[in-house]
Amino acid sequence: MLDGRVAVVTGSGRGLGRAYAQALAAAGAAVVVNDIDADVAAETVAAITDAGGRAVAEVGAVGESEMADALVRRAADTFGRLDVMVTNAGALRDKTLRNTTDEDFDLVVGSHLRGTFTCGRAAAAQFREQGEGGRLILVGSPAGQRASFGQTAYSASKGAIVAMMRTWAVEHARIGVTANAIVPTALTRMVATIPGLGELVAKVEAGEPVPEPARRKGLGTPADVASVIVYLASKKSEHVTGQAIAAGGDRIALWTHPSEVDEHQQRGGWSAEQVADLFGDTLAGRLQGFQPAPLVIEEV
Ligand SMILES: NC(=O)c1ccc[n+]([C@@H]2O[C@H](COP(=O)([O-])OP(=O)(O)OC[C@H]3O[C@@H](n4cnc5c(N)ncnc54)[C@H](O)[C@@H]3O)[C@@H](O)[C@H]2O)c1
Repeated sequence: MLDGRVAVVTGSGRGLGRAYAQALAAAGAAVVVNDIDADVAAETVAAITDAGGRAVAEVGAVGESEMADALVRRAADTFGRLDVMVTNAGALRDKTLRNTTDEDFDLVVGSHLRGTFTCGRAAAAQFREQGEGGRLILVGSPAGQRASFGQTAYSASKGAIVAMMRTWAVEHARIGVTANAIVPTALTRMVATIPGLGELVAKVEAGEPVPEPARRKGLGTPADVASVIVYLASKKSEHVTGQAIAAGGDRIALWTHPSEVDEHQQRGGWSAEQVADLFGDTLAGRLQGFQPAPLVIEEV
């Protein structure tokens, strides 16, 4: 599906990123593998080339423009062009608001959000120069779509990434560049710390199959999510842009965009008392649930 296409996948030394890089290469793309960790990046490249695919590693932390430019340059210098940018890399510091330090916040936002911004911008510039469209595939999270206790910096990053994706879809619509965000769920080390999931991740990493109920609830292997990445990277997805797409296990689901649920007018504007009446009465029953979407785990 991807013969002749060239992709960058950030953070592809392990986990979901590695699965994306391997699946893109298996579908015919040449891949620039990026990770902050040189050893795991080399392992991904070896896995791809051993299977007959094409890949090179460009090691370093995404966040600053220099790294983003280096990734795009590596694709162009080695493989002649760039068609797909998958902004998957990022670090976690799971803490509640009161415990999140400035350093924690900067690390998480700097890798996930700034990394997405700089890599997306560098890729889009290359796409413009080539004049043949392109694919910006961003990575959100359930934690960015709904509340996620203990993930202040992470949910801020992921919510912003999906918002940025919608804007990029609009800004690039006329030049054939699509922008979409995957909202993945998979059994990787990133979810191993969620209570109830550590044991399952360990079993699956040891080669056991993912139990059916978990797969139905959206928890499978990284390879399950990778098929959606391959599709989004292909020319077949040219009509799909501005979408947040949940994928995991046996599930694919489309997220809505935020929309207003109830509108009220007061000629000349609202006094605070009138606002209080509105919220005490008419809107009281329309307030939106603020708890996280129920996750999965107790049944799997
Ligand atoms: N696993 C899930 O269920 C899940 C759910 C929602 C979102 N995600 C998102 O999917 C992506 C991949 O998650 P994963 O579970 O495979 O995580 P992971 O921790 O297994 O892999 C992330 C990779 O990114 C690398 N990395 C970290 N910071 C980097 C940086 N600044 N520059 C380059 N590489 C860097 C790490 O070394 C690691 O190899 C992340 O964006 C994550 O937020 C995962």
